[in-house]
Amino acid sequence: MALKILAINGSLTPPPSRTRVVLDVTLAAARAADPAVETEVLELRDYDLDFCDGRAPEQYSPDTQAALALVEAADAYLVATPIYRASYTGALKNFFDLVPNDPNGQDPLRGKVVGLLATGGSDHHYLVLEHQLRPLFGFFGAQTLARAVYANPKDFNAAKQVEGKLVGELEQLGRELVALASFLQQAPATFRPEHLRIRRN
Ligand SMILES: Cc1cc2nc3c(=O)[nH]c(=O)nc-3n(C[C@H](O)[C@H](O)[C@H](O)COP(=O)(O)O)c2cc1C
Repeated sequence: MALKILAINGSLTPPPSRTRVVLDVTLAAARAADPAVETEVLELRDYDLDFCDGRAPEQYSPDTQAALALVEAADAYLVATPIYRASYTGALKNFFDLVPNDPNGQDPLRGKVVGLLATGGSDHHYLVLEHQLRPLFGFFGAQTLARAVYANPKDFNAAKQVEGKLVGELEQLGRELVALASFLQQAPATFRPEHLRIRRN
């Protein structure tokens, strides 16, 4: 079964956002690792997303439901955010507040592989990847890749293309995402979502 990777861009900056650029390099490496891989980018700016207010998923607007359906359909994810105020963006936070986490119903991220990326104006906030984004996906029961990639403005040239060592890091992230997600697709039943949902509360 072809692996479907969904890249989620937490930047609302019009193209070319730096965050979109790092996602594109990573996705290209994922496709090169396995030409059968299908990739799609969810640009939050293209959807008229509701603010999360605790409604049942089916009560949100058609745009919100369309974005959530992409999450449901994917096997693996790349999640990228610009750093805003020493954190990930409010847009990304709201989007993941909308993603369900119901052990008896929709629980789309459980057991799936997630690669994390961030871009910032400096290196001061690279630990947002480890201290804020990684726990978010721990909450969802997803498997985050050990590698997480952070880019600062020096990693981009005047044309906003990535250059230097960052390119290799992004490519390796793309390959690792495909390798682990493909491995888990064929893993024993123990790793399937219905088993991964077992918990005490
Ligand atoms: C509202 C706002 C807040 C920001 N806060 C930070 C910050 O706290 N730390 C940082 O390193 N960069 C910060 N930046 C810089 C962005 O993270 C950086 O320019 C990023 O690469 C932009 O990505 P984009 O082109 O995909 O939107 C901020 C930018 C904006 C617009």
